[in-house]
Order: sequence, then structure tokens, then C-alpha cells
Amino acid sequence: MQIFHSIAELRSYLRSQRQEGKTIGFVPTMGALHEGHLSLIEASKAQNDLTVCSIFVNPIQFNNPDDLSRYPRTLDADCAMLAPAGCDVVFAPSAEEMYGPAQTSDRSSLSSDGSNPSVAYAKPILKFDFGELERVMEGQFRPGHFNGVGIVVSKLFNIVQPDRTYFGQKDLQQVAVVRRMMIDLGFQIELHPCPTLREADGLAMSSRNRNLTAEERPLASHIFKGLTLAKSLLLSGTPPSEVKQEINLHFGKEPAFRLEYFEIVNAYTLQPIDSQAPEDQTALCIAAYLGKVRLIDNLVF
Ligand code: PAF
Repeated sequence: MQIFHSIAELRSYLRSQRQEGKTIGFVPTMGALHEGHLSLIEASKAQNDLTVCSIFVNPIQFNNPDDLSRYPRTLDADCAMLAPAGCDVVFAPSAEEMYGPAQTSDRSSLSSDGSNPSVAYAKPILKFDFGELERVMEGQFRPGHFNGVGIVVSKLFNIVQPDRTYFGQKDLQQVAVVRRMMIDLGFQIELHPCPTLREADGLAMSSRNRNLTAEERPLASHIFKGLTLAKSLLLSGTPPSEVKQEINLHFGKEPAFRLEYFEIVNAYTLQPIDSQAPEDQTALCIAAYLGKVRLIDNLVF
């Protein structure tokens, strides 16, 4: 497995691979890898000659500096998981490499990456607006988040120029936003959303799970229990407004949680479903804080 930190060196290597006729699968990540990420690597390996995984904690998609500084950074452990999984290339750039060096003449463009205030980079001035796809859920509670995702993902697509890309369905809204961005910008890349992997108690695998304390971890399955309760209520004909009340009660019973949102939406448009009968591709989406850790999950049916 080859590890690159430089965009120019990665581009040059991938150019030579493309010239040999190899197809490229791409798995973008922020590291702190788990089995869910490895399932994306596996999906890519099954369909491509070469699999590239990027590991970059993208500072511009965090709207909360504490969340950014708490985000686990575990490059060595990540590489130790990727190599036996058969990943061919890791791309792990610095913020400065991705966004260019900070311009001291323009203080407003300076940013620190939170974990290390001495690391500065030039904050992009381009802005993505994903319209109604980002006025709800994550976009509503994390202003600017999808702008940061859009910028980094489009930049990574331009650098890697993959044939196919693999995203976890756990970030359902991210998948919808990236799908739309790929249409609007004409990326000729196949998007493959992959199923959420879960722990034995139903907790969706996430890099953030490792920040849960030993007391919090057993409580975390409350989220998946809430989603399965909501699904069975909807399928038995309970109106969406009543299902939402039931979910509020469900979280009310567990004071360690602070429910941020529970929404019943169409998985593609992300707009609320108000009618009694669930539509095809109904998505139940939750975000909740358990202590200091913000967890998201969804069920699509
Ligand atoms: O899902 C993630 O890990 C990130 O949002 C992504 C797609 C790697 C962009 O930074």
C-alpha cells in the first residue's frame, strides 16, 4: 500500500495507473476507521483495479471548533487496517496541502484546524448552496457543513479522478448532497452508497463512537431502538405527526440524550413526508447528543 501526502505525487502516480488502463475506486474518509469504512474498501475492490482511500479531517466542514478538536486522528492505526483490507493507495494531505498556505496579507482568510492552532491554511472563498437539500436536518443544525463537504469532495474528485466512489448510507443527507453536486458539476463518476454497518446492539458504526464513555456506550443503542419503533409505528398506519411525538417520548425516557431532530423524509429529496402512508424510500433520520458526542443514524425502507 502506498501512502501519499502530496497532491502532485498522488496525481502523477494515478496518471501512470490510468495509462495502464486501470480503473480507480475512491473511498473518501476522515479517518478513525472502523468496519463500516472497510466495507466501502471491500465494495471498491470488487469493482475496480485500484482502490484509493483519502484520510483528511476536513476543517471547513466543522461548524463547532470543539467537535473538530475532539475528532479522532489515528493515521497509523488507520493504515494498519487499510493495508490488510487490500487498499492500494492512501491519500493523507495536510490542511495546507489541500487548501494552500495561509495568506498573511489577508487575515480574514486564515483558519486554524482546531487540533493544532499553529496549522493554518487558506480558507476557500467558494460557496456551495444546496438549496432545500441543506435547509433541513444536518444543514439546519450544522450551518456551513455541506458547503465544506461539497468543496472537499469536489476537490478530492478532481485530484483522484476515480471511476467509482463509495459513501456510507449512514450519512444519508451527505449522499443526497453529493449526488446532486455530481449532477450539477457533471462529474463522470459512479456514486455507490453502501449500507450502514451496526454493532451487535444496533448502534451504527461511526468514528465518533470511540468518544463515548464506558457509561454512555450501552445507552447508545437507544437511537436504533427509536428508529425501529418509529418504523413499526409507521408501517402499522400511525400518522407521521404521532410517530414524532412517540419518538420524543422515547428520548424523554433517557435523560442522557438530547434529541436534536427526528425527521420522516423522502430519502432523495429529504423533504418531510406528512401523509399517513409511508412512501417508497421513506427515511427516518435522527441526530442526538449523548453526553458530548453527537450521533446520527437513519433507516430507509
Ligand atoms: O463522511 C465523511 O467522512 C466526510 O464528510 C467526507 C465525505 C470524507 C468529506 O470530508
